[in-house]
Amino acid sequence: MPVRIKIFDTTLRDGEQTPGVNLNVHEKVEIARQLERLGVDVIEAGFAIASPGDFEAVNEVSKVIKDVKVASLARALEKDIDVAWEAVKNARMPRIHTFIATSDIHMKHKLRMTEEEVLERAIQMVRYAKKYCEDVEFSAEDASRTRMDFLYKVIEETIKAGATVINIPDTVGYATPGEFGELIRGIKNNVPNIDKVDISVHCHNDLGMAVANSLVAVENGATQVECTINGLGERAGNAALEEIIMGIDTRKDFYKAGHKIDTTQIYRSSRLVSTLTGITVQPNKAIVGANAFAHESGIHQHGVLAEKTTYEIMKPESIGLKQNRLVLGKLSGRHAFEEKLKEMGYNLTKEQITNAFQKFKELADRKKDVTDKDIEALVEEKVARIPEVFQLETYQISSGDKVVSTATVSVRRNGNVYTEAATGEGPIDAAFKAMERTVGFALDLEDYNLRAVTGGKDALGEVTVRVSKDGREFTGRGVSTDIIEASVRAYLSAINRVLSELGEDIIQR
Ligand code: KIV
Ligand code: ZN
Repeated sequence: MPVRIKIFDTTLRDGEQTPGVNLNVHEKVEIARQLERLGVDVIEAGFAIASPGDFEAVNEVSKVIKDVKVASLARALEKDIDVAWEAVKNARMPRIHTFIATSDIHMKHKLRMTEEEVLERAIQMVRYAKKYCEDVEFSAEDASRTRMDFLYKVIEETIKAGATVINIPDTVGYATPGEFGELIRGIKNNVPNIDKVDISVHCHNDLGMAVANSLVAVENGATQVECTINGLGERAGNAALEEIIMGIDTRKDFYKAGHKIDTTQIYRSSRLVSTLTGITVQPNKAIVGANAFAHESGIHQHGVLAEKTTYEIMKPESIGLKQNRLVLGKLSGRHAFEEKLKEMGYNLTKEQITNAFQKFKELADRKKDVTDKDIEALVEEKVARIPEVFQLETYQISSGDKVVSTATVSVRRNGNVYTEAATGEGPIDAAFKAMERTVGFALDLEDYNLRAVTGGKDALGEVTVRVSKDGREFTGRGVSTDIIEASVRAYLSAINRVLSELGEDIIQR
């Protein structure tokens, strides 16, 4: 009988700590629903005390998610635990996840507490959380750099205090697979009553070993793995859910472990998270990167044509990746479009379908063949639920190698149209400057990314921008067959995101 591994997804908590990621409540709920479809066991929906927005998100996710446990993070402090409980108490299966650091380095420099104080606090706070909630997870932060004897003691005592899950984080991504496997084996063999709880692991990717460390932990007795979609997270990120699951599945002969993830939802989950966070997936990323199933060299192509298993260890369909088929054309009607969306697994509101259909019609006029990937890009542009304070009316660009680039942009707000012009170092710079004038505030552009959604000269271009305002970062995304238009739309979506977070008072006109 294979060991059943529980998947604890922390995309909405640790993943959201990725620099530049700022999800609103609607987007978090959208992702939570997709995680439910994906079949994770636990959704860590946020750190409820961190901000009112975090609280609201945990609370909303708790109300809508039915088949998955919903957790909120809390430091080992009564006020954190009170707020975490308030946020998750409406969940059908709530969990409080409390943590305190146990390594010498963290106790001395961050907490300024002795080990006796840390141990006592951990015990008291697990007991405190337990008064509210049967399901309490305790994390010994920086466990991989904690003295073994102290770690065993903390685990033993927090189990006695009522913890149902003990999490062993490699907080700074320092452990090697050999060391981490030994750590988990040591805990399993030496801590009394450890078999009464789930051993969880939570690995960061600073040295690129988060997935390897998570999998070696599974080999050595971990029964819960904490991870994020696309490996999002602080610094170099967390262990990537899709890599762990496909590792376990593809090498079931080796890991002999099971899970309840529907792998055909992996690709959709990856796309949704990438779209809503604005963090694009690198093409050579394992499992979900654009090249993960592409065969470039002639020898490989020849092998795959003769027999797929020569170079393919996984089937693209197993992660829900369909052949990029030609689908609809200029003459396709709304009914056919809706049927196509259903077949692709989208479940959209009437308004979203209307928006997407209009964009599809515009695209079909410009582009001969509209494929699944085009439709995916159009639909995902409309998934983000940011109020459109400013809407694009028109733009005009003049550019060339011997002229100064000039842009004129008109946007609409509350029925009024604002038009401004600007010059710049190239058409995109000019367009962004003109837009800042029309909306009445400036932004710093931190990152600009352009990719072609499909091959071909008439391909849709997808632009993602990362901007900063008042020390905070925001992303925006736009698609069009015209890359200037995609850029303008991406910048405008970032502008609207800034306004939804910082308020309309920043508009100066
Ligand atoms: O990395 C870490 O140690 C954490 C804990 C709060 C679980 O995120
Ligand atoms: Zn973490």
